[in-house]
Amino acid sequence: MSLQSQFASENTHAALDIVLDTAYQGINAGNWAKLFADARKSQLEQFIVDMFAGKRINKSEDRPALHSALRNLSKRPVLINGTDVMPAVSEVWHRIEALCNKWVGVTDVIHIGIGGSDFGPRLAIEALAHAPGIESRGMRMHFVANIDTAELARVLTWAHPHSTRVIVVSKSFTTLETSMNAKAVVAWLKDSGCSNSQVAHAIYAVTANVTAAKEFGINEDHIFPFWDWVGGRYSVWSAVGLPIALQYGFETFQQFLAGAEAMDLHFKNTPLEKNLPVIMALALFHQQERHDIRAYAAIPYADALDWFPRWLQQLDMESNGKSIDRDGKPVKHSCPVVFGSAGSNAQHSYFQLLHQGTEIIPIDFIAVREPMSNRPEAKAHHRILLSNCLAQAQALANGKTASNPNDVYPGKRPSNLLLLPKLNAFYLGALLALYENRTATLGALWNINSFDQPGVEYGKVLAKPIEQALTSHQNDIVASANIDAVTAARINLLNSNN
Ligand code: F6P
Repeated sequence: MSLQSQFASENTHAALDIVLDTAYQGINAGNWAKLFADARKSQLEQFIVDMFAGKRINKSEDRPALHSALRNLSKRPVLINGTDVMPAVSEVWHRIEALCNKWVGVTDVIHIGIGGSDFGPRLAIEALAHAPGIESRGMRMHFVANIDTAELARVLTWAHPHSTRVIVVSKSFTTLETSMNAKAVVAWLKDSGCSNSQVAHAIYAVTANVTAAKEFGINEDHIFPFWDWVGGRYSVWSAVGLPIALQYGFETFQQFLAGAEAMDLHFKNTPLEKNLPVIMALALFHQQERHDIRAYAAIPYADALDWFPRWLQQLDMESNGKSIDRDGKPVKHSCPVVFGSAGSNAQHSYFQLLHQGTEIIPIDFIAVREPMSNRPEAKAHHRILLSNCLAQAQALANGKTASNPNDVYPGKRPSNLLLLPKLNAFYLGALLALYENRTATLGALWNINSFDQPGVEYGKVLAKPIEQALTSHQNDIVASANIDAVTAARINLLNSNN
């Protein structure tokens, strides 16, 4: 029996006018009941309460994970060690609003940051660029993340130094890429004739390490703080999201927070059976248990969301890509590889494998009811975009028989459809918060701490002696404690070409 005929209606859920349709997951009522029961057994409900209450659920770093406080527009008290964090959060909101009013005549903003200090604002700036009803305030918003100077060179070609503002964004303020790019931009401003006081006037910081930002030379009143209880990849709701307010206005930024807050309230207050982030997490959890899946794809049928899969990759894989649980024991499963890009482009790339490859790869199809432009052809194009989205899901679920093996589609390839009514700041905020809460739910189901990232450190440590060896220009480097024979040979290869 085809998947959809059996499960069509009981698999449609809605919150904030966002519809989640899990009909093509092929999960029957009995499976769902067991999944919800298992979720309850793994104390998911208590985990959600603890997360919003500011309990120290990030045990390895002994911290709460309270990014929800950053979008708590109603300012309900949120206590850490008995102190309400909302006054400090609101003060940053006021400062963001004041900055929006102050930056008149600015032609270019260079946002320097990487990972969680880059993906969120970059995604939001892209996603809202053509959103109906959102006016751009006309600054050119540039992002510099990579240590590769190609990105820097591209940005500095466009920017006008005397009317540029620079925002250095780093939770730790110790990230090498960010500090080197910031130094390069300061040098560019000076080389372009800006005086020391003009540079000081132009440069701002967003960080949880105010001391380091001051040591870098940034004036204290140009530093927007955030806090160690906000994970970098969950930080777009803080002043990390400044570009959204600067480019589209403070009200738009507030709308973005409002969408996320509404999704948080849904996640916090809705029974598991109707809870969108929980249902999405359980569907993936189930497919992994059933098919031992190694990857899943997120395909937004909205060009404006082309950055969304990259943002999601860090969110999910840095949060849950771990081999041990919260008690240090090995886990059976953790985060599958996440990939994706905008449809329909994606169809012309890796959909061959999704349809006929040997792996089962669950998919989140994300669609938007309304077109994202006012072009005369927008409606006609949008119908084709949506038709493609629906057709791909159907083909993947039902498959196709044929006498020629080349034309056989095995089918039974699960997917969700997530349908947004429109893509404005509110729904973008709701979408990102939906996925954040889904990631946290998956962490709870796998018993993984979703809020630390110890696995990113070792490579950074090893890069230091290698960089020294490259700086030496010697091509007789031999293996040592931190450089093995393969890497020593590669260094020698690079140095021999210098
Ligand atoms: O190296 C990974 C990481 O620590 C991410 O977790 C983080 O988002 C990124 O680097 C940037 O860190 P920071 O904001 O401290 O510069």
